[in-house]
Amino acid sequence: CELQALNTLHLRARARGLQRVADLDTLRAALRSAGALGLPVIPLGQGSNVVLCEQLEALVLKLEMRGKTVLSEDSEQVCLRVAAGEDWHGLVVWCLDQGYYGLENLALIPGTVGAAPIQNIGAYGRELAPFVSAVHALRCADGSELLLSREDCEFGYRDSVFKHRLRDAVVITHLDLQLPRRDLPDCSYPGLQQQLVQQSGAGPATARAVFDAVVALRRAKLPDPAREHNAGSFFKNPMVDRARAEQMRRDFPALPVYPVEGAAKLSAAWLIEQAGWKGVRRDGVGVHPGHALVLVNYGADDGDRLLQLARDIQSSVAARFAIELEIEPRVYGRME
Ligand code: EPU
Repeated sequence: CELQALNTLHLRARARGLQRVADLDTLRAALRSAGALGLPVIPLGQGSNVVLCEQLEALVLKLEMRGKTVLSEDSEQVCLRVAAGEDWHGLVVWCLDQGYYGLENLALIPGTVGAAPIQNIGAYGRELAPFVSAVHALRCADGSELLLSREDCEFGYRDSVFKHRLRDAVVITHLDLQLPRRDLPDCSYPGLQQQLVQQSGAGPATARAVFDAVVALRRAKLPDPAREHNAGSFFKNPMVDRARAEQMRRDFPALPVYPVEGAAKLSAAWLIEQAGWKGVRRDGVGVHPGHALVLVNYGADDGDRLLQLARDIQSSVAARFAIELEIEPRVYGRME
């Protein structure tokens, strides 16, 4: 079956089979039949963080489980259980309408709720991790249930246990979230405060205002995957130790450096732009002219061409800055 409509990079790829999954019984049956055929499964939500190459010897599971349940609620906080197939941005909007706060900085991130913990989605100063109380999953091997606490998830910057020990071992079915009911927005991210002042003048911000500001910033900077086929940031911002960050700052005073506990994150977009890649277009793929971290499929529809561009960017950034860029989306069908 053809997967082009099932990934936001719009890459042409085929899999041995495709199963739409709207409930746990169907998921268990699909895991059993994949096991019987000796095939691995590839879980897909909206396909917004994957690179699919050619022929995949796998059964693709299109996860479409829906539902949001309030598990408990008081004046301080709410506990929610959300099914993996729910649209992430739809959840952010719904939470804000209910007066459940915290997710407003994560507005407009493409993808599903079930995919969110895998890369610990983050933007504009917040990450998913602190809001997760548990992740529910089924083991691929036998369909049995697995419950992970926030600690079990080993969240890091764009990272979790689902990219390491549990990679290809589980399918996430539900996310339990604990959200504050107090409107205490975080506007500390550079650029967010500026957007807020522009929008509504100085004064205390609300979660609704942060939501509007994040939506405006993302619309202005990042291409809409529905119109320009992309998977968001194609590389992680590289993490270096403090000494290396200081040296980079001395050598390249304009390089944005973000301190994190015990280390520092460098702006991959800046490194790529300085290496001359921003706006470059070749072989039907390219680097978005508005944001150097975003690779775009302009019609090549071919994962290998996109990966070749990514490798050339990695080599030139390594040659110029001695920094290794790591690809962020999951690559299927090729060695990573
Ligand atoms: N910059 C450049 N050139 C560019 C774009 C940005 O030099 O083409 C520099 C600017 O100086 C800017 C700085 O990089 O101030 C940071 O840019 P931005 O605020 O866009 O953030 P980012 O670090 O490039 C990260 C996430 C994004 C997220 C934004 C906002 C990663 C890999 N990416 O990008 O996430 O939206 O912060 O918080 O951490 C995604 O993961 O798909 C994604 C879009």
